[in-house]
Amino acid sequence: MKLFVYSYRDFDEGEFFNKYSSEYNIELGTCREAPTLENAYLVSGYAYISVITTKIDADLVTRFHELGVKMISTRTVGYDHIDLHKAEELGVQVSNVTYSPNCVADYTIMLMLMSVRKMKRIMERANINDFSLPGIQGREMQNFTIGIIGTGKIGRTVIKYLSGFGCKVYAYDLFENSEVKQYAEYVDLDTIYTKCDMISLHMPLEDSNYHLINKDSIAKMKDKVIIINTARGALIDSVALIEGLESGKVGAAGLDVVEKEFGLYYYDLKSRVLDNRELLILRGYPNVIVTPHMAFYTDQAIDDMVHHAIKSCWLVENGKENPWQVV
Ligand code: COI
Repeated sequence: MKLFVYSYRDFDEGEFFNKYSSEYNIELGTCREAPTLENAYLVSGYAYISVITTKIDADLVTRFHELGVKMISTRTVGYDHIDLHKAEELGVQVSNVTYSPNCVADYTIMLMLMSVRKMKRIMERANINDFSLPGIQGREMQNFTIGIIGTGKIGRTVIKYLSGFGCKVYAYDLFENSEVKQYAEYVDLDTIYTKCDMISLHMPLEDSNYHLINKDSIAKMKDKVIIINTARGALIDSVALIEGLESGKVGAAGLDVVEKEFGLYYYDLKSRVLDNRELLILRGYPNVIVTPHMAFYTDQAIDDMVHHAIKSCWLVENGKENPWQVV
């Protein structure tokens, strides 16, 4: 069978694509660029294609369908970048992957600690030999009440890690999980907003939670609340967050994701004027850490992403059940 891989990166994914394509006897076609209507023709003759988090809108899904694509496999956990309605309507299967939740959970804890200990300011000052103390006093995690919104695999791992810090943990999810109850108390969203010193987001982006963190929810939060987002940018209304930071209501933020990051992250744009004012404003604040959607980026995760992308296509081709099928 044949698989066409978009956004192919030989420097980190290459060894795993070689390993798993020979293990599953799959012929690969590759292209470093993200899929577009212009380069969609490359998939002619391929029933399976692999993509990452670049926009796959209705027109592109339609074009792939016309070219004979049977399945779009995204080597990511999230699939909000793909027009699932169009795929379902046309009978194009969409599949995601799973990878160790520890990569994102580790990174979340790092952003939490960096925010609580004002690490951006400490590092910026140390780099210019400013070793003064005013303005960089931190707080202690043991004195925090932390709210985790979303208790899927990543949220659960973060909660388990937090149990070692001695802080109080509240959790929110539509579906409660018994493991979480060992370490955290499930509460409603308003309790998370009103009682927590730090709030961390761990849910997929859906129509129902777009801008979950907005002017109204921020108004309910404790003064100096710290907001951490390693999930999806559009869970937070960036303008409302900026206003919260400007007023001092929000004390700090650790953001691995931001709204409108498509077309920016994973490209070298150092000579370009970026088309995302909110990102630039947020990045400029001393109490906001912005990283370019890197929480996933470990050796283990890349191995899992490539392996599961290839295996899911192989399973479908061989008429077996695909545990990663989305539609
Ligand atoms: C995902 O797997 O959903 C991620 O967020 C990581 C991806 C951007 C590579």
